[in-house]
Amino acid sequence: MDKKTLIDLTWDEFDEHRDPRPAESEFDKVVERAISRRGFMGGVLAFGSGAAVFGSGLLGSAGKALAGSTAFPFEPIGIATDFDVHVPSGYAWKTVVRWGDPLFSDAEGAYSPDTGVSPAISDMVFGENTDGMSLFEVDGRELIAVNSEYVNPKINLPAASEGMPQSAEEVMLLKNLQGVTVMEVADKGDGYEVVIDSPYNRRITHETQMTMDGPAAGSDLVKTNADPEGMSPKGTMNNCGSGKSLWGTYLTCEENFNGYFGASGDYEVTDDFERYGIGGEGRYGYETFDARYDLSQEPNEPYRHGWVTEIDPSDPQSTPVKHTSLGRFKHENAEMVQAADGRIVVYMGDDERGEFMYKYVSNGTWAEGQPTDGLLSDGTLYVAKFNDDQTGEWLALTPETTGMAIEEILIHARIAGSKVGATTMDRPEWIAANPMKAEAYCALTNNKNRGVKPNAGGDETPVNGPNPRETNNFGQIVRWVPAGDDHGADAFSWDLFVMAGNPTVYGNVYGGSDNVTEGNMFNSPDGMQFDSTGLLWIQTDGDDSNEGEFAGMGNNQMLVGNPETGEIARFMTVPTGAEVTGLCWSLDRKVAFVGVQHPGGSWPDGAGKPRSSVIAVWREDGQPVG
Ligand code: FEO
Ligand code: CA
Ligand code: CA
Ligand code: CA
Repeated sequence: MDKKTLIDLTWDEFDEHRDPRPAESEFDKVVERAISRRGFMGGVLAFGSGAAVFGSGLLGSAGKALAGSTAFPFEPIGIATDFDVHVPSGYAWKTVVRWGDPLFSDAEGAYSPDTGVSPAISDMVFGENTDGMSLFEVDGRELIAVNSEYVNPKINLPAASEGMPQSAEEVMLLKNLQGVTVMEVADKGDGYEVVIDSPYNRRITHETQMTMDGPAAGSDLVKTNADPEGMSPKGTMNNCGSGKSLWGTYLTCEENFNGYFGASGDYEVTDDFERYGIGGEGRYGYETFDARYDLSQEPNEPYRHGWVTEIDPSDPQSTPVKHTSLGRFKHENAEMVQAADGRIVVYMGDDERGEFMYKYVSNGTWAEGQPTDGLLSDGTLYVAKFNDDQTGEWLALTPETTGMAIEEILIHARIAGSKVGATTMDRPEWIAANPMKAEAYCALTNNKNRGVKPNAGGDETPVNGPNPRETNNFGQIVRWVPAGDDHGADAFSWDLFVMAGNPTVYGNVYGGSDNVTEGNMFNSPDGMQFDSTGLLWIQTDGDDSNEGEFAGMGNNQMLVGNPETGEIARFMTVPTGAEVTGLCWSLDRKVAFVGVQHPGGSWPDGAGKPRSSVIAVWREDGQPVG
C-alpha cells in the first residue's frame, strides 16, 4: 500500500494494516459464528452468571426499572443524520473556536476557506481535530487546555499534493496544527470566545522543548543524536484524551504516535516496534523532510513518544514534563484520583484492539497545598486483570514480576503487561471516576477482532467477562469498585454499566443490555466525564452510516448516564462525519464546552473546509448544565 492510501486510513485501520487479520474466508466464518446464537452463548453465560452476584449494580434489571423514566433535567432528543449540531429543547449552542482561528492578533486572517492555514503563523492558531480538554481557573480567569489530536493532510495541503507534504515547510504546518492549545476564554456578553493575545495563550506542538522524569528518563533507549543525555525530548504528538491533576495542571496523552515514523533506509524491526505498530512505512511522509521521524537515522525517537505529558497552564514559560512512570503506550486519557491514604492514582487506557488498562500509584502522598514533587515520577505501574466472576486485580509491573529492567517495563509497557497475564480489552478509551463514590468507568469502544485474532503481541483474545462479545462492533462500558472503596487497593469488583447494541436489528447480545433501547441506542462509546451532580456524560466515535446493524443510531452523539439507575438518555448529536470528544465546564457550570472533531461537509461555516471546533452549550434559563 502506498503512502497516499495510508493517510486515508483511520487509526484502527492502520493498526489492522500493520497487523492483518486472518484470511477473509476464515474471518467470514468467525463473523457468522459470532452472530449465531451458538456463538454468543459463551458471552451470555459469562455475563449472566456474573450479573447474578453483583446486587444493585446488576445490569439488566436497571434498564427495565427505568422504562419510560425521564429522570434527567432535559428532554432526550432523537437521532440526526444531517450536518448540524442538535441539543435538547431549552438548550442552545454556539461555536467558541474553530481550526485556524487566531489565538494572537498577529495571526488574524491566517485561515482561508480555500487554502486553510498559512504555514508561517500555523503555531499561533487553534489546531485541528480538537480532542480532550480541561478548564482551569488562574488569577480569576478561565483557561482551557485542549488537545489537537491529528491533522487531515488532504484539507491542509494543496490539492495537488494529495495529502503528502512536498517540503519541510509543509511538514512544519502539519506538525504545528497538532499538539495542545492553552487559551483564555471569556463571555463578553455574546457567549464565550477566545481572549485574543491573552498572556496565557500558548501553543505546544511537535517542536516544543520538554523534559522527562521517572526511571526511563536518561536511559539509553531514549537517547538520540539531538539529545545524547536522553532528558530533553522535543514535542508532543497525537494528543488524544487528557486529564486534570488535583493540583491544577493539564495531563495530555500521546496516543497513535507510531504512524509518524518512517524509514529512508535500513532499520531494525524489533519486537517492541512490532507490538507498537512502528515501522518504516510512515503514514505522513514527515521522515522525508525531518530526520527526527526517520527510523534509519533516529531509531530511538519513537521511545520519546507515547507518554503522559504534564503542562502547567498557569505559566506560559513552563517546560512540559513527560512522566515515564506512567508507562508508554497509546494513551487515551489520564484520570487522577486519590487513594485513601493520600497517594495519587492515575487510571489509563491503551486504545488498541486487545490491549490493556493500567493504573499508576505514587509512593508519596499529597494534600492540598503540599509540594507535588515526585508524585508522577516515583511510583508503581499496574495492569488490570479481570476475572469472569466479576472480581479483578491490579498486577504490579516490576522487575520481579516481569523479569525486565524498570526502564524497559515503562518503555515497553505492553510487553510487560503481557508477561503478567493482563486481560486483553476491547480498545480502552476514556476512563472516568465517579466523584460521588469510589468507582470508575472505562469506555471499551469496540473490537471487531474480539475472538477473531490475537493482539499485536500474540496474546489470544477470547471473549471474557468485560469483553463478552465476539466481533464487537458496538462497544461497552465497564465499571469497577475498588476493594474497601480505596482506589489504592489491588483488588476490585466489576460489572458492565452498559453494553451498546441495536435492539431493532438483533434479538441477542448484539441488541445491547437492557438499558439500551430504540430511543437511546448508540455505538462506540469513547469520551466520558462525570459532571458535578454525579451524572456520566458519554461521547461516541462510531459508525454513523445509519445503515445495517447501525440503522437507527444516526450521527455520533453525546448521552448522559445515571450511575445509580443505569438510565441513559441522548443529549446531543453532531454533524455527519464528526465524533464528539472533549468536555469541560465553565467555572459557574452554566456552560459545557464540547469538542466536535473531524466534521463532514463544510460545518460549521456552511462553506469552505470542514473545521473541527469547540462549541459552548448552555441552558436558556441560565441554570447549570451539569
Ligand atoms: Fe484518540 Fe482512542 O481516541
Ligand atoms: Ca478517543
Ligand atoms: Ca477518533
Ligand atoms: Ca475512538
